[in-house]
Amino acid sequence: MTLKTEILQPDAPGLARAAAVLGAGELVAFPTETVYGLGGDARSDMAVARIFEAKGRPRFNPLIVHVPDLDTARQIAVFDAQAERLAAAFWPGPLTLVLPLRPEAGISALVTAGLKTVAIRLPAHPVAQALLRAFGGPLAAPSANPSGKVSPTRAAHVAEGLAGRIAAVLDGGACAVGVESTILALSPPILLRPGGVPAEAIEALIGAPLAAGGDAAKPSAPGQLASHYAPGAAVRLGVTRPEAGEVWLGFGPDCAGADLNLSPAGDLVEAAATLFHALREADRLAGPAGRIAVAPVPETGLGRAINDRLRRAAAPRP
Ligand code: TXA
Ligand code: MG
Repeated sequence: MTLKTEILQPDAPGLARAAAVLGAGELVAFPTETVYGLGGDARSDMAVARIFEAKGRPRFNPLIVHVPDLDTARQIAVFDAQAERLAAAFWPGPLTLVLPLRPEAGISALVTAGLKTVAIRLPAHPVAQALLRAFGGPLAAPSANPSGKVSPTRAAHVAEGLAGRIAAVLDGGACAVGVESTILALSPPILLRPGGVPAEAIEALIGAPLAAGGDAAKPSAPGQLASHYAPGAAVRLGVTRPEAGEVWLGFGPDCAGADLNLSPAGDLVEAAATLFHALREADRLAGPAGRIAVAPVPETGLGRAINDRLRRAAAPRP
């Protein structure tokens, strides 16, 4: 079935329309500070099934639940003292906490993939917050792209991948962070996915080094599938001298002559914000059967999230 995907402005009528669409069990893509999410009512099996259908995503991946405030989060998940401290420090913002689920909250089992835990986050983007308030319930929202493809950081990216497959897109401009949220399991703390909150900031708060989790062979997280975030072109990493025919995606001031640069100044925040758009641009420049060569990016702060996404973009395709 082909839908006519509405492009909505984030003003009062646009938000009211988006909330009504969600209330009818349909899907609305909306901006968050990380990437655009494909939102559906987290309490509705039908709406959540539509998310999987629209993305063409394998069913075994649980989704993140987005809430408008901490009280709503506490109604859905059990917060111990450490979870409260993390929420106080990093919410609203790009941190997802995996916490024990309160079954009485009525979250669809499709959202949690039947697990006893739920991944939950309070986004900082004002349009995401306004939508959550207007809808008045929790939204399940993976990134708003076809499964395995590059995540969207602009409304136009969403339309490229999902037009005709979803009811509406709320256009909130470009996403400021540009990589997905950091996913953290607790008791004990385990970094399931590097993301918009640098691991170092979490380690400073909990006062201990973070164990890394996540196993490409046993994906509990879609971001953990080896090949993910994949552009059409082949991707080669750590390249300081590109070969003829490669589109060179640079980072920092040493990449004079790069076709594109994630951040000419070598700023990791800027590089994260532009990463997915730059991958799309490089893909366009490379053309069908083209090749993209990416300059080295330091493995600190947001560089860990950037390199994680780049490694998946470069991984062998299924
Ligand atoms: O920045 C983001 O997090 C974006 C925006 C839209 O909020 N959302 C996003 O969602 O990246 P998604 O569905 O692409 O990623 C959800 C991640 C998956 O890797 C999933 O396996 C993990 O959260 N996850 C969800 N529930 C989990 C659980 N109970 N235990 C462990 N991992 C879980
Ligand atoms: Mg995704």
